[in-house]
Amino acid sequence: MANAEREQWSTSFGFVAAAVGSAVGLGNMWRFSYLTAEKGGAAFVGLYLIFTLLVGLPILLAEMTIGRGASRSPVLALEHYGGRSWRLLGVLFVLTGFLILSYYSVIAGWTLRYAGELLWHGVPLNPGDHFSQVSQGWPAFLFHVSFMALTMAIVAGGVKRGIERVSVIAMPVLFVFVCGLALYAATLSGSEAGYAYYLNANFTNALSMDVVVSAAGQSFFSLSLGMGAMLTFASYLSRQSDLPREAIRIAAADFGVAFVAGLMVFPIVFALGVEGDVSESTLGALFVALPEAFSSMGLVGRFVGVIFFVALIVGALTSAISLLEVVVSAAVDGWAWSRGRAVIVAGGLITLIGSFAAWDLALLDAMDQVANNILLLLGALLLSVFVGWVMKNAETELAQGAGRLNWVGVWRFLLRWWVPIVLLFVLFHSVPKTLSNVRNLVFGLD
Ligand code: PHE
Repeated sequence: MANAEREQWSTSFGFVAAAVGSAVGLGNMWRFSYLTAEKGGAAFVGLYLIFTLLVGLPILLAEMTIGRGASRSPVLALEHYGGRSWRLLGVLFVLTGFLILSYYSVIAGWTLRYAGELLWHGVPLNPGDHFSQVSQGWPAFLFHVSFMALTMAIVAGGVKRGIERVSVIAMPVLFVFVCGLALYAATLSGSEAGYAYYLNANFTNALSMDVVVSAAGQSFFSLSLGMGAMLTFASYLSRQSDLPREAIRIAAADFGVAFVAGLMVFPIVFALGVEGDVSESTLGALFVALPEAFSSMGLVGRFVGVIFFVALIVGALTSAISLLEVVVSAAVDGWAWSRGRAVIVAGGLITLIGSFAAWDLALLDAMDQVANNILLLLGALLLSVFVGWVMKNAETELAQGAGRLNWVGVWRFLLRWWVPIVLLFVLFHSVPKTLSNVRNLVFGLD
C-alpha cells in the first residue's frame, strides 16, 4: 500500500504532545486517585511505578516500533509484520478502543457538567446526593453525547489540524493547572495527613494479588497501552524520530502528572477532613469528596474546583481523541473510508454503546474492569509476544533515528520472556476475579 499521502505530525513536539495527551487523562487524576485510596496509598503507587518502568515502557517502545515501522493503522500494521492471522490482534485493539471510549466519555461528561456547575452555581449542597443524581440517566447521557461530539469534531479535523493543534495547547495548560493546584494544596493547614497517607508505604497491603492486578492494569490504562493507541500515533511519525527518547518523555510526563495529581488530591481531601468519602472508595469518590472539600473553602474553593475540573476535561479530551483515532484510522486504512465518514460511524456507535454505561453506574464499573484488568493486559501480552518472537528486525527498527543503542537486546529479551510471564501471571489472577466482579456488578449479587 502506498503511504505517500499519509499524514504526519508537523513537529516532534507535536507528536509528544499528542501522545502525552493520550496518556494523561482521567486515568491520571480520577482513576489513579481512587485506586490509590482504595488499594492502600503509597504501596500501590510504588507498585504502579514498578510496572510502568519494567513492563509499560518496553511495551510502549514495542507499540511505537510497530507503528512507525509499518506507518499503518493497527490492523494493517500487524498484518504487515506478522501475516494475516495477526490482524485479529488489531481487531481486538479496535474493539477495546470502542469499549473504553464508550464509558470513558460518560465519566468525561460528568466532568463537563461539574465544571459548568461550579462556574455558574457553585458547589452543590449535598455532593453525595448530587453525584448519584447526575452520574446516571438522562443527565449523564446528555453530557456523554456532548463530550463525544467534541471528540468527534477534533478527530474529524485530522492528525495535524485536529489532534496535534489541540494537544500542543492543551497539554501545557494542563501541566500548569495541575502543578498550580498541587502548590495550592500545600498551603492548606492539615494537609500533612494527606501527604503521610499518600507517601508512606505500607507494604503489607501491597502484597495482595488484587493490588498487583490493579497496579498492572492502571499502568497500561494510564500509558494508553495494550490497545494500539500509541501504535496509531507513532504511525504518523517520520523515520527520523528518536523513539526511545520520545517514549521516556511520554512515560515521565504520564507518571509525573499522576503523581502530582495525588499531591493535590490527598492533601486537599485530608486537610478538609473528607477522607471518609474517599476511603469508602467507589468510582465516584473524587466527584463527591472534592466538591465536599471545595464547598468548605468558600469562593476560593469554587475557583479551585473550576480549575480542577477544567484540567480533567482537557486531559479526558486529548485521551478520548486517541481512543477514537484508533478506530477511525482502522476504517480509513482498512476500508478506504473517508475520515469524516469513519468519525461519524465509529463515533455514533460508541455514543450508542456508551449510553448503557450512562444509564447504569454498575455497568460502567464492569466495563472499566473488563477493559483494564483483562483486555489491555491481554492486548499487551500478545503484543509483546508479537514483537519478541514474530516481528523481524524489531531491534533495527527501534534504533532507526536513535543512533546506536546498546540495550536493544535487553529490550527484546524483556519482550520475549519477562513481559509475557509477568502478564500471564497477572491475567491468571485477574480473569476469574474480574469475571466474578462483573457478574456481581451486572446481576446485582453484591
Ligand atoms: N491513558 C488514558 C488516561 O489515562 C486513557 C486511555 C487508555 C487512552 C487507553 C487511550 C487508550 O486517561
